[in-house]
Amino acid sequence: MNFASDNVTGMAPEILQAIAAANEPAAAMPYGDDDISRGLDALFGGIFEADCQVFPVATGTAANALSLSILSPPYGAIYGLAHSHTNEDECGAPEFYTGGAKLVPIRGENGKLTRATFDATLADQGPAQGVHVVQPAAVSVTQATEMGTVYAPDEMAEICAFARANDLYVHVDGSRFANAVASLGCRPAELTVGAGVDIMSFGATKNGALAAEAVVIFNPELGESLGFRRKRGGHLFSKMRFLSAQLEAYLTDGLWLKLAGHANAMAERLADGLSDLDEVEVSFPVEANMIFARFPIGLVEQLYDVGFVFHHWGDPDWPTVRLVTAFNTDPDHVDRFIDAAHAHGTGA
Ligand SMILES: Cc1ncc(COP(=O)(O)O)c(C=O)c1O
Repeated sequence: MNFASDNVTGMAPEILQAIAAANEPAAAMPYGDDDISRGLDALFGGIFEADCQVFPVATGTAANALSLSILSPPYGAIYGLAHSHTNEDECGAPEFYTGGAKLVPIRGENGKLTRATFDATLADQGPAQGVHVVQPAAVSVTQATEMGTVYAPDEMAEICAFARANDLYVHVDGSRFANAVASLGCRPAELTVGAGVDIMSFGATKNGALAAEAVVIFNPELGESLGFRRKRGGHLFSKMRFLSAQLEAYLTDGLWLKLAGHANAMAERLADGLSDLDEVEVSFPVEANMIFARFPIGLVEQLYDVGFVFHHWGDPDWPTVRLVTAFNTDPDHVDRFIDAAHAHGTGA
């Protein structure tokens, strides 16, 4: 009964089968020159209703760092939320891959960067004139966000328009992009290329793949160096077909949205089930597959005692708890969590 992360999961059976099927031909050309890998641009192009260049990699950190490396010079500024994965959880990979660009933190609201908070940061900073300051290069936003909220198409379009007016490229960390699309029920293009996004890290690992992410480039001016940077960064897999097979299966017959829809529905069920508990305070709107809430420590300990796994941190008496659901979360585990939470303090 593990709600620690969507990384605790195994694989969706369809993806496991696709890996096995990719193993059938005894030989296939390496380094992305196989049939499945060569079909990815067209496959993603169909999903995003636009020409795009697709570069599979095995981790979200690599996808983010490689994406940012083509958006910013070493002396550039990349704007993003202070608590973003790129800023807090990638061990300096974006700085390393860009050759030293500076990540400039921006305040968020409900886990989202807004036009107003972005504007305020740029205004505080003043004009980037002269050799003494980093030069504005890009903005990076996460969709779905690290706080389990989502940017609607009009919010994305507003950020992109503001970025464009300030000569900034736009990157989306889409490690949970499927959860956002499933939540909003919109076309993937509306959140990306249609809104003005230049490049995204498209995730699949958290939502049913073994290890498959992709850099997806929408802006045709940008792709030239990515292949070299991916090789140099150690992410050009010789047996690329096994990564590509995961992405192909993921995007076939709407599997990605079916899996994410289940994860989201489990989060909603959990949030609904906890909503009548006075001692539980949910911190952000639950719009994807993550719940952040404050629980009394006694409740946290009791839930651990009966076998639930999840993270908590912060205030020793009333910590913040993160509950993450996934494509294969068992509804029975959700219901048992809700029951156990209601039993707290009753002696049941
Ligand atoms: C928002 C976000 N971006 C990117 C990643 C990718 O991380 P990894 O390099 O572990 O695949 C994660 C994983 O937790 C994440 O939560």
